[in-house]
Amino acid sequence: MALAYIDPIDKLLNDAASGKSLFKNREVLHFTFIPETILHRDEEQKKVTQSLLPLLKKSRPSNLLVYGKPGTGKTLVVKKVLNKIQERVKEQSFPIELVYANSKEETTLYGLLVKFGRQLGLKSQKELPSTGLSISEVFNRIISTIEKNTLNTVFVVDEIDYLAELVSKTGKDVFYSITRANERLKKGSLTLVGISNDLTFKERLDPRVLSSLSEEEIVFTNYTVGQIKEILEERIKTAFIPKTIEQAAINLCSAMAGQEHGDARRAIDLLRVAGEIAEREQADLIQEEHIRKASLKMEEDKETTALNSYPLHEKLLILAVMKANGTTTGEIYQSYKNLCKTVRQKELTQRRITQILSEIEMTGLISGKIIHQGMHGRTKKFSLTLHPETIKKAFKEDLTLEDLL
Ligand SMILES: Nc1ncnc2c1ncn2[C@@H]1O[C@H](COP(=O)(O)OP(=O)(O)OP(=O)(O)O)[C@@H](O)[C@H]1O
Ligand SMILES: [Mg+2]
Repeated sequence: MALAYIDPIDKLLNDAASGKSLFKNREVLHFTFIPETILHRDEEQKKVTQSLLPLLKKSRPSNLLVYGKPGTGKTLVVKKVLNKIQERVKEQSFPIELVYANSKEETTLYGLLVKFGRQLGLKSQKELPSTGLSISEVFNRIISTIEKNTLNTVFVVDEIDYLAELVSKTGKDVFYSITRANERLKKGSLTLVGISNDLTFKERLDPRVLSSLSEEEIVFTNYTVGQIKEILEERIKTAFIPKTIEQAAINLCSAMAGQEHGDARRAIDLLRVAGEIAEREQADLIQEEHIRKASLKMEEDKETTALNSYPLHEKLLILAVMKANGTTTGEIYQSYKNLCKTVRQKELTQRRITQILSEIEMTGLISGKIIHQGMHGRTKKFSLTLHPETIKKAFKEDLTLEDLL
């Protein structure tokens, strides 16, 4: 009698249905989740609230710059304060508009302003077209709306350092105008809140813009390892089924995330990935080894993303370094030319390749070492800092490279 056929998909689904899950609520580990309690940030919550408080008294808050290292709770705290104020606003008789935007998600100042305008009620393309106007015209329309409806507006620009880059090329003056909008407004108000994790961004900003943007400043300090641990323990209560995580794993996770600076995001991500790994292994308990595996996986994912974002010839060059590991530019160029032939691509010049080689070296994916060769002078030899398997795995998706792996 033939063995009963078990559908592989059904098998996995059955296992999942009967298997133990470690997660109670995975959602609460997502970075957009706003937890009920924000630990170790009372001062910061107070300061942000205080600085926006004038809104409730119909006067204009100062512009505010919030900064601190990644994962220190800036977005979380500001969003929570906005939510709380928004709840109160419903009871107010005068209009307050709080708008949040992340400049990483908008590639232009124009896009960012349109997002702001839409939320202030400029809904149609006629009122505010998505392209085509000058930036100052977009801004003028926003100002008119604020005046017409006597709106008290707060515009929160998260990761404002991304915007500062764009602004330095195209919209310097408009950015300045936004920070000084109130001088123009006869009715209503506009307050700008900027959030940044790039501490050098202030130095790159036009001094006039900086001085009006940072009428007030709030700095978020790094979490200590102990604080990270408490934040984790709090989150674990809602995210995982009780008693599914070993204390040692929590300690390790906090220590790893606290190593460089106290980054709560990294800690939570580590824990989520560790949970997924443990679940896939059908383990009953998340242990230290799962945290370690999670850390390796996250590192690898980061490398894979970096590798995949390179254009074709950069990828070919990385493969050439992989194949001619530890050799000179000349030999690597030879190896690169062979690869180009195999995939029928016209090769770039040695000069250009040398240039690209040093660009990739700067990112740390490959490293160059000067070798002294006695009377023959010195030469530079390049080798990979990544495991070849990581590269093969990353490039597998690229059909052009298929034959080279
Ligand atoms: N005090 C805290 N209590 C609970 N969760 C926290 C706390 N601080 C940060 N988190 C969590 O850590 C993650 C990162 O926080 P957040 O996004 O606010 O960091 P950030 O300072 O804005 O970082 P970045 O500069 O990279 O944007 C989020 O998932 C957030 O919920
Ligand atoms: Mg943030």
